[in-house]
Amino acid sequence: MTDPIRFLNAFAHALAVMTLYPEGHPSREGAVDAAFDGLTGLRAPKGPPSFTFLEDEVVFGREPLRELKSWEFGRRLIAAGVQRIEFERTVTRDQFEGFLQEVLARLTLSSISTGEARQMRSLGVRFGAVGLQGDFALPAEGAKESTTLEMALGEEADAFRSMQAAVQSGQGVPLIEAEAVVWSLAVAMHGQQRVVMPLLQLKEFDQYTTAHSLNVSVLSMALAEALGYGAKQVRAVGVAGLLHDIGKVSIPIEVLTKPGKLSDEERLLMNQHPVAGARIILKSGDEMELAATVAYEHHIMLNGGGYPQLHYKRPCGAASRLVHVCDVYDALCTRRPYRDAWTSDKAVAYLESLAGQEFDPDIVRVFARTLREGDAQVKVLTEDTPAIAAPDGAS
Ligand SMILES: [Fe+2]
Ligand SMILES: [Fe+2]
Repeated sequence: MTDPIRFLNAFAHALAVMTLYPEGHPSREGAVDAAFDGLTGLRAPKGPPSFTFLEDEVVFGREPLRELKSWEFGRRLIAAGVQRIEFERTVTRDQFEGFLQEVLARLTLSSISTGEARQMRSLGVRFGAVGLQGDFALPAEGAKESTTLEMALGEEADAFRSMQAAVQSGQGVPLIEAEAVVWSLAVAMHGQQRVVMPLLQLKEFDQYTTAHSLNVSVLSMALAEALGYGAKQVRAVGVAGLLHDIGKVSIPIEVLTKPGKLSDEERLLMNQHPVAGARIILKSGDEMELAATVAYEHHIMLNGGGYPQLHYKRPCGAASRLVHVCDVYDALCTRRPYRDAWTSDKAVAYLESLAGQEFDPDIVRVFARTLREGDAQVKVLTEDTPAIAAPDGAS
């Protein structure tokens, strides 16, 4: 049995024993000791040990624990609003026991507010219906917001980069990791009661792709939700948004980072990324058909323009039309070497001016409403964001 599994079993056992025996009882103390020993014995590959509970998976750090597929106890934790647990290295046994009591209260109370994020930072443990790293709190007015959000999505950005690296080295897209990132973004999005557009510090191209991919994922989920999609579909759209540009891994970095206009040959190469992406995703698993379709279609316009050219005219899938809108919006709101980032209003006006031609007018209408009024609020962080070299046009 691996360490994380041993710990989780001891953790579940301790909670069960705690329902039976009062504080101070030897059985209870022994069970808590065993779980705490399991925790201190955990070797996280990087950072503090963390567990994420998905519907059918348990993920330790970024590594899915196959032996715990469909672990019943994980489902109970999710139902109690515990989707993620993070332990600081310095957590003491007392703090750990306090955490167990909190979880126990959540598991046994009937009136649990699952939407509420819980942070026990002082206790060395954070858990709850959250996927956020770093600070949960909204940045104070005037504070260095970009720093806070960069931290907040650091792990998601890392996870995305490692997915890209896996694809680059010829492996498929790790679906579980993609889902974990999307889950995390979805929860972050709701945790803050607004759509966060996490423009990270953009210094290098790969950071541009990472920030762009996370942004498109978040925006696509917000839009899907506004369009009335169910939770499962929303997350599938989030995965599709995250992976829409994955085909760019096969384009030489010089072409990707060229600041000026691309030559015809380079443009040709660039325009292959939708097909390349769809191919990579299809090879990676059967459940990823939607993401493959979106990767293939996200540069195709409503009127059939764009690329790749379809042999016969047919409408693109709804998710593709949706991601297309978010993709162009994010590209416009990102600063480029030759122009400033557009404001949200200007970008939305641009989308509206091409509704019916390039963009699906119904989707643009809902997107504009979501951004302008709704309860969603997009925070565009452009201050101190250095310009990066990236090809022009929506990417
Ligand atoms: Fe893109
Ligand atoms: Fe693209």
